[in-house]
Amino acid sequence: MSARPIGVFDSGIGGLSILHALQQALPGEAFVYFSDAGHAPYGERPDAFIAQRCLHITEALIRQQGIKALVVACNTATTVAIHWLRQRHPDLPIIGVEPALKPALERSASAQVAVLATDRTLSSAKYQALAARMAQAYPHARIVAVPCSGLAGAIESGDVALVDTLCARYTAQACQTAPGVDTLVLGCTHYPLALEALRRHAPTGLAFIDSAPAVARQTRLRLGAMGLLAPQPKGWPPQPARPGLQLLGSGDVHALQAQAKRHLAHLAHVGRIGEGAQAKGQAA
Ligand code: DGL
Repeated sequence: MSARPIGVFDSGIGGLSILHALQQALPGEAFVYFSDAGHAPYGERPDAFIAQRCLHITEALIRQQGIKALVVACNTATTVAIHWLRQRHPDLPIIGVEPALKPALERSASAQVAVLATDRTLSSAKYQALAARMAQAYPHARIVAVPCSGLAGAIESGDVALVDTLCARYTAQACQTAPGVDTLVLGCTHYPLALEALRRHAPTGLAFIDSAPAVARQTRLRLGAMGLLAPQPKGWPPQPARPGLQLLGSGDVHALQAQAKRHLAHLAHVGRIGEGAQAKGQAA
C-alpha cells in the first residue's frame, strides 16, 4: 500500500507549486499529477461544475492509478468540493489547500495583510469563515481581499505580458487598499508561478506567503499517522530520488510535460516563498 502514488490535482498547472513542495518533503514518494486544463480556470465556473469535475478526477485517480492519498492542489476546488470528496471517500486521506492567513498574520509587523485569490475562493463560505476566525484571533489586524480576476487564466495560458500587467494591477491594488501592508498571501496555487512578476511590481520589503510547505507537511503527517509513508531515501546528504511522476490531464499532455519541466525547475531556482509559510502554514 505504501508504494502506491499520491494523487495531486488542480484546474491546470497551478498545483505544480504544491507538487514541488511535496517532492521536496517526500522524496521517496511517487506522484500522479492531473491537470484539468481542458476545463480551466475553475474560478470562472459554477460550483456544481467544479464539484462534478473534482469527483470525476478523484474517482479516476483511485480506480486507474490506485492512489493512497489525494492532495487537492487548488484553493478554489478545496473551497467548493473538499467536503463532498471526503464524504464520498472517507477512507482516503484527502488534503486541501486554503490561503495562508495565519502565517501571514504571525509574520506581519504592521498587522496588515492582503490576500490575492480568485473571486470564487474569496467569496466562498469557507474563506469567509477562515477570515472571521483570523479576525477574532488577531483583533487588531487588517485583512484585505484582492480578487485577481484573469490572473490564473493568464498564467495557465503562458501570456507573459498579461501576467505582468495583472501582477502590477493587483499588487498596486493591495498596497492602495491597505497602505501599511507588508505581507501578501498567494491564495491561488497558480500565483507562485508568477512570483517574479509579483516581486517586480511590489514595493521592496513586501513578503509573499503561500501554502505549499504547509500542505506538504500536513500530507507527510497524515501519511505517517496512517502508516502509509513510502520508505524515504537513505544516506547523507539525502538523495533527491524521484520514484516517479506521472503527468495526466484533460488538456494537451505534451504541453503539460513541457510546462511541468519548466515550472518545477524554476520553482527550485526561485526557492521558497516566505519564512512564515515554513514556520506554520495552512492546509485545509
Ligand atoms: N489554482 C487554482 C486555485 O488555487 C485555481 C485557479 C482557477 O482555475 O481559477 O484557486
